Amino acid sequence: MGAQALPPIRLGPIQIETPAILAPMSGITDIGMRRAAARFGAGLVVSEMVAASFYLAADEETRLRAEGEGLPIHVVQIAGRDPAAMAEAARLAEGAGAHAIDINMGCPAKRVVGGYAGSALMREPELAVALARETVAAVKIPVSAKMRLGWDASDINAPELARRLESEGVALVTVHGRTRQQFYKGQADWAAIRAVREAIAIPLVANGDCDGCASAQAMIAASGADAAMVGRAAVGRPWLVGEIGAALAGRDWLEPTNADKAEAALDHYASLLSTFGKAQGVRHARKHLAAYSDAAAASGAGLPRALRARLVTTTDADEAAALLARCWAEQAEEAA
Ligand SMILES: Cc1cc2nc3c(=O)[nH]c(=O)nc-3n(C[C@H](O)[C@H](O)[C@H](O)COP(=O)(O)O)c2cc1C
Repeated sequence: MGAQALPPIRLGPIQIETPAILAPMSGITDIGMRRAAARFGAGLVVSEMVAASFYLAADEETRLRAEGEGLPIHVVQIAGRDPAAMAEAARLAEGAGAHAIDINMGCPAKRVVGGYAGSALMREPELAVALARETVAAVKIPVSAKMRLGWDASDINAPELARRLESEGVALVTVHGRTRQQFYKGQADWAAIRAVREAIAIPLVANGDCDGCASAQAMIAASGADAAMVGRAAVGRPWLVGEIGAALAGRDWLEPTNADKAEAALDHYASLLSTFGKAQGVRHARKHLAAYSDAAAASGAGLPRALRARLVTTTDADEAAALLARCWAEQAEEAA
């Protein structure tokens, strides 16, 4: 490939062996998905965003989002705009076993921006810096931050904000190469992330539109980042993060067998059922079931069309498990 192999990176005192990270995705990176990615070699996985106020109110769904059982390195991402609440939520996560805290400064959702958290913080750098300061001071574990390039094209302030966060003790910064106003439109601008590289000495993670080893290499080359973060492309393919990490680290990658993939998908599905109960779990799992089936089809296995439709509509949790297992049958089944 010609690219230089990336060494392990550090998140404060934690060594991350493989320079590829599963992105936090609300409603997606549940504990089962994170365990699957970690099992196939992702260097790090990050929880779904946890709203500080909900977490402090002992909201059960929020507690589940922050679950980390079975993860080698457990990072809880927290969103909020009240420094005292952020600090308290970070302390709570630390007490519950988190190894690191990530502060969300990138989520464009109105629900978050409407509460003036997430990427809205990029328009209020003083507050963003105060949040980081209080959070860092509240815990012994390292604190990272995830941001966008800026609010819009006329205000690209990620380099300056990252520099200020570093001076407050933030240990690692991730930049998604889009502005808030782009939401998910257009292409992530990996080259624009390089200005952040030049502004900070702490590890930098690049993110946005990385969907395989070649794009990860290109993202790293353009941005100068130390690691790649992968989100949407890993849905239905949690092993992709490990594969990308191996490529970036210059290590050989052994593609998991169909049996390994089926086992991982079934474990993930079982974790959703045990978290939400069978009736709710089978519904909650649908986006994952669809993604697993489609990823299997893309790799030459997969279900006939009628069974794929059944997989994502059945309310019978056991039937869904049986269909999920069939996604990686040795031969692609005849398309119906
Ligand atoms: C469904 C969905 C949920 C997301 N939730 C979060 C979140 O909770 N916290 C966060 O920092 N980013 C969140 N993101 C943004 C991703 O972490 C990532 O920055 C973005 O998807 C770009 O990376 P990708 O092109 O590899 O998917 C979410 C993205 C998606 C698609």
